[in-house]
Amino acid sequence: MFGYGSLIWRPDFPYLERQLASIDGFARRFWQGSHDHRGTPDAPGRVVTLVHEPSGACTGMAYRLDDEIVQSTFEQLDHREKNGYERHEVLLQFANQSEATGLVYIAAEGNFAYAGESHPDEIAQIIAMSHGPSGANQEYLYELAAALRKLGIEDRHVFDLEVRVRKLATRD
Ligand code: SIN
Repeated sequence: MFGYGSLIWRPDFPYLERQLASIDGFARRFWQGSHDHRGTPDAPGRVVTLVHEPSGACTGMAYRLDDEIVQSTFEQLDHREKNGYERHEVLLQFANQSEATGLVYIAAEGNFAYAGESHPDEIAQIIAMSHGPSGANQEYLYELAAALRKLGIEDRHVFDLEVRVRKLATRD
């Protein structure tokens, strides 16, 4: 199982081991609307999805799951990721050059909650204002940025939004 957003910093499922992995051809973007976790149907927040970027690669966390609980774990995750995400098979590449097939939740362009590309200021405004049943949208961004930094993963899109949202938050 490959996580690149909240599944990096809040894996609420048991796993046997985890390690950094990358998948080619994708970039992490705050282009998915959140009606159920970090926003509401009337005022959706913004969370990450993966978008195709032919020359890009996304680094995240790969989890190895016990065979016995794979099915129940994915049932639980299907519920958590129900707002437009679908499971896809991808090739995971590890630092030691080994590879494995894994599953990743992607909210593809055109899903009912897809927000798409917007100016970073607009995304920052939404994140700064939004709240949902799982908490403040800001918290999601800050936790993700902190986790990426701790893991040594450089992600300009995320770090740039973090700066913009912190500026808006201190202005209020
Ligand atoms: C993921 O973390 O892999 C999917 C997106 C999210 O739940 O934040």
